[in-house]
Amino acid sequence: MKAYEKLLLENKAWAKEKIEDDDQFFERLANLQTPEFLWIGCSDSRVPANEITGTKPGEIFVHRNIANMVVNTDLNLLSVLQYAVEVLKVKHIIVCGHYGCGGVKAAMTNHHYGIINKWLRNIKDVYRFHREEVDDIKTEEARLNRMVELNVQEQVMNLAKTSIVQKAWKHAQLPHIHGWVYDLHDGIIKPVFEMLAGTHIDPIYEFDDL
Ligand code: CO
Repeated sequence: MKAYEKLLLENKAWAKEKIEDDDQFFERLANLQTPEFLWIGCSDSRVPANEITGTKPGEIFVHRNIANMVVNTDLNLLSVLQYAVEVLKVKHIIVCGHYGCGGVKAAMTNHHYGIINKWLRNIKDVYRFHREEVDDIKTEEARLNRMVELNVQEQVMNLAKTSIVQKAWKHAQLPHIHGWVYDLHDGIIKPVFEMLAGTHIDPIYEFDDL
Protein backbone atom coordinates (compact mmCIF):
# COMPACT_ATOMS: atom_id res chain seq x y z
CA MET A 1 0.00 0.00 0.00
CA LYS A 2 1.25 3.49 -0.84
CA ALA A 3 1.71 5.94 2.03
CA TYR A 4 -1.07 8.25 0.87
CA GLU A 5 -3.48 5.31 0.48
CA LYS A 6 -2.98 4.56 4.17
CA LEU A 7 -4.38 8.01 4.94
CA LEU A 8 -7.62 7.17 3.13
CA LEU A 9 -7.86 3.85 4.93
CA GLU A 10 -7.27 5.50 8.29
CA ASN A 11 -9.93 8.05 7.41
CA LYS A 12 -12.53 5.32 6.81
CA ALA A 13 -11.68 3.71 10.15
CA TRP A 14 -11.92 7.08 11.91
CA ALA A 15 -15.32 7.91 10.37
CA LYS A 16 -16.64 4.48 11.33
CA GLU A 17 -15.47 4.92 14.91
CA LYS A 18 -17.12 8.35 15.18
CA ILE A 19 -20.45 7.00 13.93
CA GLU A 20 -20.25 4.09 16.38
CA ASP A 21 -19.70 6.51 19.28
CA ASP A 22 -22.38 8.97 18.20
CA ASP A 23 -24.57 8.33 15.17
CA GLN A 24 -25.44 12.06 14.85
CA PHE A 25 -21.79 13.16 14.89
CA PHE A 26 -21.40 14.14 11.24
CA GLU A 27 -24.95 15.31 10.73
CA ARG A 28 -24.63 17.75 13.62
CA LEU A 29 -21.28 19.13 12.45
CA ALA A 30 -22.40 19.35 8.84
CA ASN A 31 -25.21 21.71 9.83
CA LEU A 32 -23.37 24.09 12.13
CA GLN A 33 -19.95 25.06 13.43
CA THR A 34 -19.79 27.15 16.59
CA PRO A 35 -16.12 27.21 17.62
CA GLU A 36 -15.17 29.41 20.57
CA PHE A 37 -11.55 29.64 19.49
CA LEU A 38 -9.52 30.88 16.55
CA TRP A 39 -6.09 29.25 16.48
CA ILE A 40 -3.23 30.90 14.62
CA GLY A 41 -0.38 28.42 14.69
CA CYS A 42 2.76 27.35 12.87
CA SER A 43 2.45 25.01 9.87
CA ASP A 44 4.95 22.69 11.59
CA SER A 45 3.58 19.13 11.40
CA ARG A 46 4.50 18.51 15.04
CA VAL A 47 2.08 21.11 16.41
CA PRO A 48 -1.46 19.94 15.49
CA ALA A 49 -3.94 22.33 17.09
CA ASN A 50 -6.73 19.87 17.90
CA GLU A 51 -4.55 17.06 19.14
CA ILE A 52 -2.42 19.07 21.59
CA THR A 53 -5.46 20.84 23.07
CA GLY A 54 -7.73 17.78 23.22
CA THR A 55 -10.36 19.54 21.11
CA LYS A 56 -12.78 17.88 18.72
CA PRO A 57 -13.88 18.79 15.18
CA GLY A 58 -16.03 21.91 15.39
CA GLU A 59 -14.27 23.38 18.43
CA ILE A 60 -11.36 25.33 16.94
CA PHE A 61 -11.21 27.45 13.77
CA VAL A 62 -7.66 27.09 12.50
CA HIS A 63 -5.22 29.16 10.48
CA ARG A 64 -1.61 28.04 10.17
CA ASN A 65 1.37 29.53 8.39
CA ILE A 66 5.14 29.48 8.78
CA ALA A 67 5.99 30.83 12.25
CA ASN A 68 2.37 31.76 13.16
CA MET A 69 2.57 35.24 11.74
CA VAL A 70 -0.07 37.99 11.67
CA VAL A 71 0.92 40.11 8.69
CA ASN A 72 -1.38 43.05 8.05
CA THR A 73 -1.33 42.64 4.27
CA ASP A 74 -1.97 38.88 4.33
CA LEU A 75 -5.42 38.50 2.75
CA ASN A 76 -5.58 34.87 3.80
CA LEU A 77 -5.04 35.62 7.50
CA LEU A 78 -7.31 38.68 7.39
CA SER A 79 -10.13 36.73 5.75
CA VAL A 80 -9.87 34.00 8.38
CA LEU A 81 -9.77 36.63 11.12
CA GLN A 82 -12.77 38.55 9.84
CA TYR A 83 -14.86 35.41 9.40
CA ALA A 84 -13.89 34.06 12.83
CA VAL A 85 -14.56 37.34 14.64
CA GLU A 86 -17.57 38.74 12.77
CA VAL A 87 -19.46 35.61 11.72
CA LEU A 88 -18.41 32.85 14.12
CA LYS A 89 -17.94 35.38 16.94
CA VAL A 90 -15.08 33.47 18.57
CA LYS A 91 -14.43 34.42 22.19
CA HIS A 92 -10.70 33.76 22.12
CA ILE A 93 -7.90 34.01 19.60
CA ILE A 94 -4.82 31.95 20.35
CA VAL A 95 -1.50 32.64 18.68
CA CYS A 96 0.55 29.54 19.36
CA GLY A 97 4.25 29.42 18.51
CA HIS A 98 6.62 26.63 19.40
CA TYR A 99 10.20 26.35 20.62
CA GLY A 100 12.48 24.99 17.91
CA CYS A 101 10.54 26.84 15.19
CA GLY A 102 12.42 26.50 11.90
CA GLY A 103 10.93 29.77 10.62
CA VAL A 104 12.27 31.77 13.56
CA LYS A 105 15.62 30.00 13.35
CA ALA A 106 15.94 30.71 9.60
CA ALA A 107 15.01 34.37 10.11
CA MET A 108 17.87 34.76 12.59
CA THR A 109 20.45 33.77 9.97
CA ASN A 110 21.69 35.68 6.92
CA HIS A 111 21.08 32.77 4.61
CA HIS A 112 19.19 33.50 1.39
CA TYR A 113 16.24 31.08 1.24
CA GLY A 114 14.47 32.38 -1.85
CA ILE A 115 10.87 33.53 -1.74
CA ILE A 116 10.46 32.60 1.92
CA ASN A 117 12.85 35.48 2.74
CA LYS A 118 9.92 37.82 2.21
CA TRP A 119 7.88 36.05 4.85
CA LEU A 120 10.80 35.73 7.29
CA ARG A 121 11.49 39.46 7.00
CA ASN A 122 8.60 40.00 9.42
CA ILE A 123 10.46 37.95 12.04
CA LYS A 124 13.67 39.88 11.47
CA ASP A 125 11.64 42.98 12.34
CA VAL A 126 10.63 41.35 15.65
CA TYR A 127 14.34 40.86 16.39
CA ARG A 128 15.05 44.50 15.53
CA PHE A 129 12.39 45.68 18.04
CA HIS A 130 13.92 43.52 20.80
CA ARG A 131 17.57 43.43 19.74
CA GLU A 132 18.98 44.61 23.07
CA GLU A 133 17.21 41.96 25.12
CA VAL A 134 17.90 39.13 22.66
CA ASP A 135 21.59 40.00 22.17
CA ASP A 136 22.10 39.86 25.95
CA ILE A 137 21.11 36.19 26.10
CA LYS A 138 24.13 33.88 26.36
CA THR A 139 23.37 30.75 24.31
CA GLU A 140 21.95 30.48 20.80
CA GLU A 141 19.24 28.06 21.94
CA ALA A 142 18.05 30.44 24.67
CA ARG A 143 18.16 33.36 22.24
CA LEU A 144 15.98 31.46 19.75
CA ASN A 145 13.57 30.38 22.49
CA ARG A 146 13.15 33.98 23.58
CA MET A 147 12.68 35.06 19.95
CA VAL A 148 9.85 32.51 19.65
CA GLU A 149 8.17 34.07 22.71
CA LEU A 150 8.72 37.65 21.49
CA ASN A 151 7.42 36.72 18.05
CA VAL A 152 4.20 35.39 19.59
CA GLN A 153 3.88 38.59 21.62
CA GLU A 154 4.32 40.76 18.51
CA GLN A 155 1.74 38.74 16.57
CA VAL A 156 -0.79 39.14 19.41
CA MET A 157 -0.15 42.90 19.24
CA ASN A 158 -0.49 42.80 15.46
CA LEU A 159 -3.97 41.31 15.89
CA ALA A 160 -4.93 44.17 18.21
CA LYS A 161 -3.79 46.64 15.54
CA THR A 162 -6.33 45.33 13.01
CA SER A 163 -9.60 47.19 12.51
CA ILE A 164 -11.37 43.81 12.75
CA VAL A 165 -10.27 43.23 16.34
CA GLN A 166 -10.65 46.87 17.37
CA LYS A 167 -14.21 46.94 16.06
CA ALA A 168 -15.09 43.73 17.93
CA TRP A 169 -13.50 45.03 21.14
CA LYS A 170 -15.53 48.23 20.88
CA HIS A 171 -18.90 46.62 20.17
CA ALA A 172 -18.72 43.16 21.76
CA GLN A 173 -15.86 43.32 24.30
CA LEU A 174 -14.51 40.20 22.62
CA PRO A 175 -12.34 38.38 21.62
CA HIS A 176 -9.53 37.99 24.15
CA ILE A 177 -6.15 37.27 22.59
CA HIS A 178 -3.69 34.79 24.04
CA GLY A 179 -0.05 34.22 23.12
CA TRP A 180 1.17 30.70 23.81
CA VAL A 181 4.31 28.69 23.13
CA TYR A 182 4.31 24.91 22.71
CA ASP A 183 7.33 22.89 23.80
CA LEU A 184 8.13 20.04 21.40
CA HIS A 185 10.16 18.30 24.13
CA ASP A 186 7.39 17.80 26.69
CA GLY A 187 4.18 18.67 24.84
CA ILE A 188 3.32 21.46 27.28
CA ILE A 189 1.94 24.84 26.22
CA LYS A 190 3.24 27.88 28.10
CA PRO A 191 1.15 31.08 28.09
CA VAL A 192 3.55 33.99 27.46
CA PHE A 193 1.43 37.03 26.67
CA GLU A 194 -2.19 38.12 26.73
CA MET A 195 -4.34 41.01 25.55
CA LEU A 196 -7.84 40.95 27.00
CA ALA A 197 -10.54 42.68 24.97
CA GLY A 198 -10.27 46.44 25.36
CA THR A 199 -6.57 46.46 26.26
CA HIS A 200 -5.04 49.85 25.54
CA ILE A 201 -2.86 49.91 22.44
CA ASP A 202 -0.43 52.50 21.15
CA PRO A 203 -2.72 55.36 19.99
CA ILE A 204 -1.08 55.62 16.58
CA TYR A 205 -2.67 52.24 15.73
CA GLU A 206 -6.15 53.14 16.95
CA PHE A 207 -8.93 53.72 14.40
CA ASP A 208 -11.78 56.22 14.82
CA ASP A 209 -15.37 55.58 13.79
CA LEU A 210 -15.38 51.79 13.92
CO1 CO B 1 7.42 26.63 13.42
